Amino acid sequence: MVSVIERELYRINNKFTKYKMISSKELRKKYIQFFKEKGHQEIPSASLVPENDPTVLFTTAGMHPLVPYLLGEVHPEGKRLVNVQKCVRTGDIDDVGDSTHNTFFEMLGNWSLGDYFKDDSIRWSFEFLTDKKWLGIDPEKIKVTVFEGDDDAPRDEESIKIWQECFESLGTSTEVFDKEKKNNETSRIFPLPKDDNWWGPAGETGPCGPDTEIFIDLGKSVNFEKCPNGDDCKPGCHCGRYVEIWNNVFMEYNKNEKGEYIPLEKKNVDTGMGMERTLAILNGFDNIYDTDVLTPIVKEVENLIQNSQSEESDDGILSLSLQNDSEKIKSVKIIADHIRTSVFMISDGVVPSNLDRGYIVRRLLRRAIRHGNLLKLPNGFLSPLVETVIEIYQEFYPELENNKAIILDEIKKEEEKFGKTIKQGAKELSKCAFEKITGKYLFYIFSTFGFPLELSFEEIENVIIPELKLNPKKELENKEKIIQEFNEEFKKHQELSRTASAGKFKGGLADLSKETTRLHTAAHLLLESLRRVVGEHIFQKGSNITAERLRFDYSHGEKLTDEQKQKVEDLVNEQIQKNLPVEVEEMSLDDAKKIGAMGVFESKYGEKVKVYTIGNKDAEIFSREICGGPHVQNTSELGKFKIKKEQSSSAGVRRIKAILE
Ligand code: SER
Repeated sequence: MVSVIERELYRINNKFTKYKMISSKELRKKYIQFFKEKGHQEIPSASLVPENDPTVLFTTAGMHPLVPYLLGEVHPEGKRLVNVQKCVRTGDIDDVGDSTHNTFFEMLGNWSLGDYFKDDSIRWSFEFLTDKKWLGIDPEKIKVTVFEGDDDAPRDEESIKIWQECFESLGTSTEVFDKEKKNNETSRIFPLPKDDNWWGPAGETGPCGPDTEIFIDLGKSVNFEKCPNGDDCKPGCHCGRYVEIWNNVFMEYNKNEKGEYIPLEKKNVDTGMGMERTLAILNGFDNIYDTDVLTPIVKEVENLIQNSQSEESDDGILSLSLQNDSEKIKSVKIIADHIRTSVFMISDGVVPSNLDRGYIVRRLLRRAIRHGNLLKLPNGFLSPLVETVIEIYQEFYPELENNKAIILDEIKKEEEKFGKTIKQGAKELSKCAFEKITGKYLFYIFSTFGFPLELSFEEIENVIIPELKLNPKKELENKEKIIQEFNEEFKKHQELSRTASAGKFKGGLADLSKETTRLHTAAHLLLESLRRVVGEHIFQKGSNITAERLRFDYSHGEKLTDEQKQKVEDLVNEQIQKNLPVEVEEMSLDDAKKIGAMGVFESKYGEKVKVYTIGNKDAEIFSREICGGPHVQNTSELGKFKIKKEQSSSAGVRRIKAILE
């Protein structure tokens, strides 16, 4: 463990700002204010649950809710946007507990939609980072990477030149890295290949381009002797010396079906700055858990540990426990991270279940509960932490306080359910694992004791194997097969359509093909038809569209009768046959409400919104919704609408699956 004095020395030596410490509130405020002064409009953070994007479960970057606009839709707030976006990435969930990984984070972002490009983008980033009025970071500590060029696109000379002018203006060296010379230490600007400095397209085709990434150089002292690349260490190396804080993406090409990169007429800028990392760097911390968005949760967990120690009783059921202090610290961090993410997810409408998003929040909560259990915290310890998370964030995310009762209720239910079986489950795993680690066996542990598969693996790898001094390689040599078997069991028991696989959490541009656009317009017709046939209590609760089908969740307590289903289908098809125009207008949120436009999640909208109207304005309007688009221009483009399935989704929410033939 690092002593307090060592930590403080680290902090003082590595404080890169010339001024005082900075809080999360100040960083958000400064970022927004800076870009407002540069003509940007602030837009609110969208929900963690993406709308109409089947490629990901959660919002993974600030650009994610803006994809339609990056693909050419007109944004009602203009061409220059700035915001702070809540994001979730669970691909690295197993690494949470070290100093840099987390599952929830905020991304500070600014965008140009066909407006400014590389010159302003880079100069403003440099100004914001180095100017004493803003972050005041010592420019000597900043290193940047750019695209080195290949057969598809040339080296990004433009960005190199702009960066050189920026650094020169403050009298800082501007040497460009040269592979042959291996001038790593003296270089400021590092041209790197596509793997490092290229963004998109997510699918086979679409907008993409080079990016330039901004790193802080922590210097040779930090773990440098352990760097696997030795003297070849440079920005992009994962040893910890260089911390990436900002990524400016320059979308200037469209990759077409032939694989050619054609320059875009309307070029965009998409930038993202990681809040937690930047905050840690600015304050000289080597650890995101020392920042003010996480420390209060860590402290509260530590308080709970202290309070529970006096009451600790050995119930004789569970002999396995954490071996040493560093494991305890890791458990504390896992709890802090997972409760924070769960609170935000539940607030955005995700409830624990065995499917998709619900499975992720369940997995996070149960993993947190298990780690609390290893720390000998009493059952129910998560609830007080909910309050702490809300306190940290309520000013910026008022929805947390509004949803507090639901959040507490869902977490309590999960604690009660899992609390009852966790100890027997752990005991069962420790007793039997080595005779029969099979997918079937782990499914039994899941269905009987509530251990998500990943948690069972973690238990076996991190607790049971070390405790019993077994050979980890041998015990889990057929892990892939176990996972496969588990999934087969799961499917047999629960018609599981999509399992939670890491692949789902990759961010990126959604597919905005003609098919998805048609289904998107059909979703508007469906909502209005449901309201007219079944009742005005019906609102949209979510939707998910792929090129093949539409999935639509709506508020309603009962199964639709066959007659209702038929009527809804007929009403949608009638509108299609009427060849109704689909028109879009921009207006203020108030005006949109005044003309009766339907909305989904109020908190998500900015002051200006787009309203899509289906129908004849002079004769009869069928549907009116606040929506980002895109949509077809006329309902005649849709074909024949067909409801394939109507089923329950969760309490009070029904789900329709439909297609266009
Ligand atoms: N989309 C880019 C990222 O996530 C920049 O915002 O890094």
